[in-house]
Amino acid sequence: MITSRHFYVKSHAVTTPEIHMNDLPGSAGRLDVVARCINAAFWRSYGIREDVVFHTILHGPPEPPVYIRLEGTRLRKVSPDERNIAIFIRKALERMRQGKEVESTPGIFVSRTHFGQLLKEYRDRDLYMLDEEGEPFEHVRMGEKPFFFLGDNMDLEEEEKELLEEYGATPISLGSASYLSSHCITVLNWLMDRINNGNIF
Ligand SMILES: C[S@@+](CC[C@H](N)C(=O)[O-])C[C@H]1O[C@@H](n2cnc3c(N)ncnc32)[C@H](O)[C@@H]1O
Repeated sequence: MITSRHFYVKSHAVTTPEIHMNDLPGSAGRLDVVARCINAAFWRSYGIREDVVFHTILHGPPEPPVYIRLEGTRLRKVSPDERNIAIFIRKALERMRQGKEVESTPGIFVSRTHFGQLLKEYRDRDLYMLDEEGEPFEHVRMGEKPFFFLGDNMDLEEEEKELLEEYGATPISLGSASYLSSHCITVLNWLMDRINNGNIF
């Protein structure tokens, strides 16, 4: 039984609250990608998946990194459209404080945590790195506490992949075709729903 699901998506989005809501794919540094990944991680047709935690680190200008975490058990008032999700990210950037983590709105946390710290904190989970050239997913036994790591419109950097390997992450592939990160998350959620319903592929 998979008890909770964590997803991390690296982002190159901007780290300023000066975000133009009509230009998420442009001047906001592909913030639309993160918003779609958040949509794919949490929303089913009726309501939110409470067993999901979504992590991202924004690496864009002017002052990276900014770490944002969304926890399904506590999320309130966020709706699934990209624009609304982006508004909550903007609020997180507005309310960020140096030196400590802040809950900017219910269920959304923001801080300066960097990738190495994140891995250290979650090293006890079952770590998987999404990679077209990894092990075919059907050969990999899914742990009860999976944490999946994905790139955004660009792949994870080599150093990030090496760090994940040091922490024992398993590279898994959904096939040789390269899919959008948000679509990978949808497939992973579907696979885990199947596993939890007793339908092992
Ligand atoms: C849009 S892809 C990355 C872009 C693409 N590799 C490139 O630079 O041309 C986004 C992320 O989704 C994940 N991904 C995409 N297709 C995948 C697949 N077939 N198997 C596993 N992960 C995949 C990887 O983590 C990848 O970094």
